[in-house]
Amino acid sequence: MSRFFDLVSKPAREMGGFLPTPPPKRAPADSQPRLIKLDSNENPFGPSPRAIEAMEAALAAANSYPDDDCAELRRKLAACHDVPAEQVLVTAGSTALLGLLCQTMLAPGLNAVTSERSFIVYSMAVHATGAQLIEAAMREDGFDLAAILAAINEDTRLVFLANPNNPTGTMLEAAAVDKFIAEVPGHVVVVLDEAYYEFAAHFAGRRKVEYSRSLSYLRRGASVIVLRTFSKAHGLAGLRVGYGLGPAELLAYCARMRDTFSVSSVAQAAAVAALDDLNHVGRVVSNNAEQAQILGVGLSELGYRVVPTAANFLYCDVGEDAAGVAGRLRDEGISVRPLGGWGAPSCMRVSIGTPEQNQIFLSAVRKIAGIS
Ligand SMILES: Cc1ncc(COP(=O)(O)O)c(C=O)c1O
Repeated sequence: MSRFFDLVSKPAREMGGFLPTPPPKRAPADSQPRLIKLDSNENPFGPSPRAIEAMEAALAAANSYPDDDCAELRRKLAACHDVPAEQVLVTAGSTALLGLLCQTMLAPGLNAVTSERSFIVYSMAVHATGAQLIEAAMREDGFDLAAILAAINEDTRLVFLANPNNPTGTMLEAAAVDKFIAEVPGHVVVVLDEAYYEFAAHFAGRRKVEYSRSLSYLRRGASVIVLRTFSKAHGLAGLRVGYGLGPAELLAYCARMRDTFSVSSVAQAAAVAALDDLNHVGRVVSNNAEQAQILGVGLSELGYRVVPTAANFLYCDVGEDAAGVAGRLRDEGISVRPLGGWGAPSCMRVSIGTPEQNQIFLSAVRKIAGIS
């Protein structure tokens, strides 16, 4: 056995290793176009020019530690969402808050509940505490809230609802979540993960359905944490900044567990500026909705089953080994996410890119499918 196996904690020993994405087969020579990354649901338009300007200005003060309290950003978020600043906690990406919630609320013998085929970080954050993750079965690629409710037991402390869900892109409508929140037992905190909030709100508006009333649960004192991020619609994934809105007492416990100075001054400045650029977010979400339609039609024409999305990616069943399809796409210079690790070996997740990127992607899948 290796030198440290007996020394590390049981959760560290038992957690799965990280599998990096393999490099493309074609050597990345200068003559080759850059890899088109449609594998991580990033914003293909980049950050808002206002955020870039704010970052540049913040760089000159990079010798100073950041404001550990993220006071300006918290105040601004509190004003945006009309909640007290104590009900906002800024973290290094919303995944950092997932980790903090698990460290704060879980321990060996306790559990968290979510759905199968959901965000991979739930499993990592829960298992790092030595607790168990119970994954309820899905219904038609979406969360089955009745099954999740039935899976809750006396040792459950957290429930994770990714809305929309990653990787299936499915959305829970507000009325279904209302009912769920009303039925969840009092010893359980519900994490409403709204990383794709801006995209989902836009789709819901177009489809004339109601997406989320998450902040109303908070206002009436429910045990709910709402997660949002600057990584998606705001295009700041590389800076690592996200936040939670929740009961002040619980967020204060989470804040104690946080690494000191974990949200950089550059990230804070960018996020503050990004909040002011509604045009940028508007452009990003409308491109996304239009391109979701184009990609959806293009993939369906190949016979792939495409699940209607409420996010910035499409989940599709290619009817064969998706890892093989992803490998061939990679050789064409495009990276997508095959979902064998999620128990869906014939499915892949494709982020919605710029119109040009999507056309290149569609030509490549058609070529691979032997059409064109
Ligand atoms: C459901 C969900 N939650 C959270 C995140 C991560 O957000 P952040 O970059 O803020 O850590 C993602 C990113 O892919 C996601 O899909």
